[in-house]
Amino acid sequence: MFVCRTTRVRVATGWRLKGCAFHGSKPYSDDAYYEQKEIRQRMKCITHFYNQSAIDHTINKPSVRLTPGAILYAGKNQDGTHILRSAQYLHKELPVRIAHRIREFRNLPFIVGCNPTILKVHEMYIRAFNILSEFPIIHNFEDDQNYCVTLRKLLDDHKDVVSLLAEGFCESRKHIKDDSLIKIFLDKTLTSRLGIRLLAEHHLAMHEEKANHVGIINVNYSPQKHIEKKAEFVRNVCLAKYGAAPNVRMNGHLNVTFPYIAPPLEYIMGEILKNSMRATVESHLDNLNHLPDIVITISNNDTDFVIRVSDRGGGIPVDLVQKVFDYSFTTSGTLTDDRVSGGLFGTITQSNFTGPAPGLMAGYGFGLPCSRAFAHYLGGNLTLESLQGIGTDVYLRLRHVDGKRESFRI
Ligand SMILES: Nc1ncnc2c1ncn2[C@@H]1O[C@H](COP(=O)(O)OP(=O)(O)O)[C@@H](O)[C@H]1O
Ligand SMILES: [Mg+2]
Repeated sequence: MFVCRTTRVRVATGWRLKGCAFHGSKPYSDDAYYEQKEIRQRMKCITHFYNQSAIDHTINKPSVRLTPGAILYAGKNQDGTHILRSAQYLHKELPVRIAHRIREFRNLPFIVGCNPTILKVHEMYIRAFNILSEFPIIHNFEDDQNYCVTLRKLLDDHKDVVSLLAEGFCESRKHIKDDSLIKIFLDKTLTSRLGIRLLAEHHLAMHEEKANHVGIINVNYSPQKHIEKKAEFVRNVCLAKYGAAPNVRMNGHLNVTFPYIAPPLEYIMGEILKNSMRATVESHLDNLNHLPDIVITISNNDTDFVIRVSDRGGGIPVDLVQKVFDYSFTTSGTLTDDRVSGGLFGTITQSNFTGPAPGLMAGYGFGLPCSRAFAHYLGGNLTLESLQGIGTDVYLRLRHVDGKRESFRI
């Protein structure tokens, strides 16, 4: 399997070079030349690492996923041994999870795996694997301090991975015949990344004293306050892009608080709100001063909680509604109205963005599929009802971390 792949890489690299019409000395275009050179260098680095058995060996080790409840009630020792235990757990766990991801990169359809942006991410995973698996065993607090520095640096280095994957898959999408393979790859890669980041962030957060927090878990989480803050942020992004943005109203169980992990919910709410605001503005270009509100309803029970986001942005056409949860499906950029694609907003909208950063309204078609994958990972679901010609209702249902029924595992 492993040898086969290496051979395939070599053979196919030759084919690509031929295809690009520079098989020896002079390339036809500088861009093509440098791109092919970069691909060759990356391939070399990657094949080099495949020749080591460490990744394959680590994949066979057990992986232990923790419930948030186990994290929440793990207890705190005065002597700090709980922190050492956490570091030792991560030291074993993270290389196993990363090794599994690397195997999936290796199994990608060749034409996708060769995309320079995807190769770059693949390489980043290999680098992270090497750093973490070669990190010496953690015996004491000094080792833990060094481990924390390493984790922080890796978290930082990998912060743009979702943008890079979105960019890479957008570029190579046209070559993909079987979308389901890509969906499985992205669902797993993105949720596994979420889990790895949550565990690493939790470990780092345990070193700090933050009111109402046990590591990354906010024991007094208020969905209303959190969503209000996020809505304000997205409104500003929308204002910057269109010069107008709808107001957000909230109703339902506004006063509830419960333990929860805010970061993934923040991401999902950001994506849903961006979609609703964009639809609202783009369907009311003649009446920007009277945009209909977006209404958010919170409903809470012992097992889970639901957040419904209702907009009056015209809904989604029947023939597209099945596609909105597909990776890379977007209608962004298809609106030919001069006020969005050029003219009035032209100079603002034509930013030179490189991926779905938080400051972007839309573009890579990753918001909904990625949010749904996160919701599934968190023991919940994300669904959508389109009332064509009127608007869209999005339902986000999430499991409590210490509810009546068993929670998810990180
Ligand atoms: N609330 C909504 N109203 C109308 N269309 C929507 C809404 N939410 C999502 N969509 C449609 O689904 C597509 C995919 O959304 P998403 O995955 O967030 O990607 P992106 O926002 O980058 O296009 C959007 O381009 C849009 O056509
Ligand atoms: Mg979106």
